[in-house]
Amino acid sequence: MNEILNNIKQRRSVRAYTKQQISETDLNTILEAALYAPSGMNYQTWHFTAVQNNDKLQLLNDCIKKAFAKSDDLHLQERGSNQSYCCYYHAPTLVIVSNESTQWWAAMDCACAIQNMFLAATSLGISSCWINQLGTTCDDDLVREFITELEVPKNHKVYGCIALGYADNNVFLKKKVIKEELITIVR
Ligand SMILES: Cc1cc2nc3c(=O)[nH]c(=O)nc-3n(C[C@H](O)[C@H](O)[C@H](O)COP(=O)(O)O)c2cc1C
Repeated sequence: MNEILNNIKQRRSVRAYTKQQISETDLNTILEAALYAPSGMNYQTWHFTAVQNNDKLQLLNDCIKKAFAKSDDLHLQERGSNQSYCCYYHAPTLVIVSNESTQWWAAMDCACAIQNMFLAATSLGISSCWINQLGTTCDDDLVREFITELEVPKNHKVYGCIALGYADNNVFLKKKVIKEELITIVR
């Protein structure tokens, strides 16, 4: 199997990380891969905010939890008050992927960029996971104030984040099971 197909099959969502930070070169390579993703009309209106400061990541998590605590959803309320809840699994790097919400393809563009970053990371031996919690809370006042400080553009919505780091190999990764009958070929 060629390297790219092998890389696609190797990528997994990792939810436990060591404290080891990824190198600046690797971070730049991963971010550059995002920039090469396709985008509707080639508008490239997205923005990538990479956060590697542990204190800021914890503060971001606190803001998200405060937003969850205000939710009507009991499951989110529970997360909001859970001391140990960390939406980014304590990964040393989090890339916030945002876009102009007025572009109807904004989410799709971001998803393409995110998958490019996942695959670039996998090829470098770096683990990753899509983190959705900022997507649902980015318009909460406190969260917005905090991400504005991080320089996420004010007119952007967050469509996803990616946790990046080295997998804690003590944590078991479930075997990937591919569902059947998902493909139709009409000839
Ligand atoms: C749009 C999207 C949102 C996701 N959000 C989260 C998330 O917030 N937290 C998380 O742990 N995993 C998240 N995931 C990862 C999925 O749970 C994961 O891709 C799926 O279970 C398949 O596992 P795999 O990625 O290891 O193949 C998300 C994936 C996608 C595509």
